[in-house]
Amino acid sequence: MKTIINNAQVVLPDETVKTSVLIDGVTIAEIGPAIDVEADRVIDATGKWLIPGVVDDQVHFREPGLTHKEDWYHATRACAKGGVTSFLEMPNTIPNTISREALDEKLALASGRCLVNYGFYIGATPDNLAELQAVTRTPGIKIFIGSSTGNLLVDDQSVLEQIFAETKLPICAHCEDEATVRANAERYADATDVATHSLIRDHQAALIATKRSIDLALRHQHPFHVLHVSTAAEIEVIEQAGDLVTGEVCPHHLFFNVTDYDRLGSLVKMNPSVKHQEDNQALWQALIDGKLQVVATDHAPHTLEEKRKPFPECPSGLPAVENSLALMLNEVNQGRIDLRQVVHWMCSEPARIWHLRNKGEIRVGFDADLALIDMQDPHVIRNENQQTKCGWTPWDGSSLTGSVVRTWVLGEQVFQKENGVETFCTDHSRGKEILFDH
Ligand code: DOR
Repeated sequence: MKTIINNAQVVLPDETVKTSVLIDGVTIAEIGPAIDVEADRVIDATGKWLIPGVVDDQVHFREPGLTHKEDWYHATRACAKGGVTSFLEMPNTIPNTISREALDEKLALASGRCLVNYGFYIGATPDNLAELQAVTRTPGIKIFIGSSTGNLLVDDQSVLEQIFAETKLPICAHCEDEATVRANAERYADATDVATHSLIRDHQAALIATKRSIDLALRHQHPFHVLHVSTAAEIEVIEQAGDLVTGEVCPHHLFFNVTDYDRLGSLVKMNPSVKHQEDNQALWQALIDGKLQVVATDHAPHTLEEKRKPFPECPSGLPAVENSLALMLNEVNQGRIDLRQVVHWMCSEPARIWHLRNKGEIRVGFDADLALIDMQDPHVIRNENQQTKCGWTPWDGSSLTGSVVRTWVLGEQVFQKENGVETFCTDHSRGKEILFDH
């Protein structure tokens, strides 16, 4: 099957040009103004922008084990709608993905059931070093240096030293200091106000754990990625560490802060917690200055019933995968950032950091994972339009301009939006296992 996409503004690695792109099978076969090939499908994309599909390097899609919250069927439709063509998923499913066997089983289970491409991290535990050393079909190792949803936690210094010293795969971590969080939780044990969450999981908790893990990465010269950076103070530590260490920020830490608890309550309870307006501003500036490299969602759905439980029982996490790119496109339209930066943070950098084979850029020979963007499309995010199984979004009611109008995964169109009507490919065997060039 050959598809030609004509006349889009194509965001290439080094320039953005109005040109044509030929997809042949699963691959980007040619890029140029005069493609002379008989194609099965020719698309006139005049006025639209063609970008690489988004690589979301931090999601929780809850399969297996927690499918009342989310599953691959709903989550990967949400991805297709959001222009996300590859996701890297966290190990806090049930069972936890903490062995080669569990990883192989998860990959086998996902096969044929995802509309977009999939990869799964292996989680570290206090005693699974041999498994961390044995796995290959994974982007890398996830460490919960502070606990979050689920029971994965590695807080013991000697175990952390061993993981950083004796494994080869890149490591990422949830950085919140367990001792600080526990002491704060004791201090606020009687609190019932959800805003207390940001006092318990405070600035210091994040900073202490980020410093601790970067110290490990530097001493052992181990590539390390700080997940969901939430404070201004962490940025400096990440920057000073140099190229070995990268940092990621999530839309919720860019767009929400403690003042949003009044309006959104537990819907904006997540780990790390939301912080202050100064932190929002510093995180935006750090992206723009190249001090943080990645925007990813930490898509972590829970049902509304669970979220409505009183504090502190209400779980942490929110869904975001279908709106993250649109939220960034809206910022482009506001003139705060440009589209090339968005592509850098959401496509090419995560693909580079996790060594995804042939993904993250529009380049001849790369996989035809693509998103076509209408920068002028006005739309309102609504709970009732969400694909995520949990059926809600903290951005319900937000008016945005700019959206994904087509998504291709490995050369096949999996999503289209035309005159406000969204259609999805029904074949959930489109997404394939992502290969990593470690
Ligand atoms: O808020 C969060 N929820 N942060 C995490 O790190 C985990 C996630 C979840 O799995 O629910």
